[in-house]
Amino acid sequence: MLEELRAALGPAGCLTGSDIPEAARSDASRSGRALPLALLRPASVSDVSAALAICHRHGVTVVPQGGMTGLAGGANPDPASVALSLARLSGVEAIDGESMAMVVRAGTVLEQAQKAAEDAGFLLPIDLGARGSCQIGGNIATNAGGLRVIRDGMTRDNLLGIEVVLADGTVLTQLTKVVKNNTGYDLRHLFAGSEGTLGVITRAVIRLRPLPGPRRTALAALPDFAAVLRLLQMARAQLPGLSAFEAMWRDYFAFSQSLLPYTLFSDPPPFAVILEAPDDPAFDTLLEQAFDEGVILDALIAQSLTDARRFWTVREGLAMDTALPDHINLDISLATHRLDEFACRCRSDLLARFPGAYVSFYGHIADSNLHVTVSVPGGGEAAAHEVDAIVYGIVRDFDGSISAEHGVGVLKRDWLGHSRSPAELAAMRAIKAALDPAGIMNPGKLLPAAVPPGGGAP
Ligand code: FAD
Ligand code: LAC
Ligand code: ZN
Repeated sequence: MLEELRAALGPAGCLTGSDIPEAARSDASRSGRALPLALLRPASVSDVSAALAICHRHGVTVVPQGGMTGLAGGANPDPASVALSLARLSGVEAIDGESMAMVVRAGTVLEQAQKAAEDAGFLLPIDLGARGSCQIGGNIATNAGGLRVIRDGMTRDNLLGIEVVLADGTVLTQLTKVVKNNTGYDLRHLFAGSEGTLGVITRAVIRLRPLPGPRRTALAALPDFAAVLRLLQMARAQLPGLSAFEAMWRDYFAFSQSLLPYTLFSDPPPFAVILEAPDDPAFDTLLEQAFDEGVILDALIAQSLTDARRFWTVREGLAMDTALPDHINLDISLATHRLDEFACRCRSDLLARFPGAYVSFYGHIADSNLHVTVSVPGGGEAAAHEVDAIVYGIVRDFDGSISAEHGVGVLKRDWLGHSRSPAELAAMRAIKAALDPAGIMNPGKLLPAAVPPGGGAP
């Protein structure tokens, strides 16, 4: 099989042994341990098709790899699978100003696609902290959310067309730029959030938007969660074009700020919120009104892009990766008005079990999405599993979702039943079996593997 793959993809398209880079072991969750049997690097759609046809014929399992910034272990390989990297299938193919659409190859790094759109006078409406490494194909495969969902929606909301290579090598091309297309099952939405389990996304058409004008950004200090909800309600009503509303609970804000060489609030408030909206007098009016009503205690208004960047740096909290190298980042959603009740219960249950743990909360409150950062010093994988069990148990009690935006991958697979009914899981398995009957696409991710990894020729 490897000889066939080498012949089809050329030596640069099929790496084995010590030629496989260490980075192929794991996504950003750092949970992957193994190297794959081979690392395929197709440079064209027909390469992807040829590679999948060969793997399918030999019954060898395939793990698609994008930018490896995923946080659910979805792109982690196993020694019996080949990994298929989209890195060489990159580049923007076309920008259509009339249709306001971009045709882009799946391996294009998000930031490069954003830049190409901006150079043409448009906004590419997908944005997340991993923009410098994640790929458009990975964004679609995980249905990524991010920082501007309040204005622009999730990745699937900006997906007009898609091209996918199915498990047996069939190329399914639907690179349409039209907004309206009611001609049966909407296949693009089947692949958005499919996490590599139904096929390999090779190209896509992404909807573009007009470039936004200048924005105002503020960092507000709030006394309690009721005030956060009230500020959100006011911002939605009074700030058309509201583009971000991100909340940090005190534990998160204080620790993230302490890792930086500057101080925004020397006495960290119970809640800190980043507000971003078009540059308009309504912005200052809203802050004044919120201050008068006691909804905010204090606010810093960015006077420059550098100021705004400082607010976002505390929010993105990348310095925590070094300060707490073993930390776990959970990603849940539930009814917005209950997010603090959930946070309080999580904190007390986690600290009761692990008294020395660091537990904090932040997230995309307007999308009912909370991130929980937990670090149990010296806890290792056993503690991580217990943390999952505690947090996801509470999510189930609150009728929430165990993954709001990062996806299920392998890390949340065994908890899927907390958020999806047996009937929903059966429908998902039926779709998987219909599109990938031999079970070669990313086995064991999202759903339990139907065939043992590496086994089961069609
Ligand atoms: P990978 O990690 O390589 O793969 C993710 C999954 O998609 C895997 O299951 C893989 O098999 C599959 N896949 C990848 N490419 C393809 C393809 N072409 N065809 C089929 N399947 C494919 N996520 C959010 O939603 N919101 C955020 O705000 C956010 N912020 C982040 C910030 C940081 C600093 C980091 C490290 C991650 C963040 N993430 C966020 C998670 C991650 O960046 C996203 O899930 C991203 O969309 C993954 O893209 P990727 O190209 O890195 O995919
Ligand atoms: C964020 C990622 C972790 O919101 O989803 O920063
Ligand atoms: Zn997020």
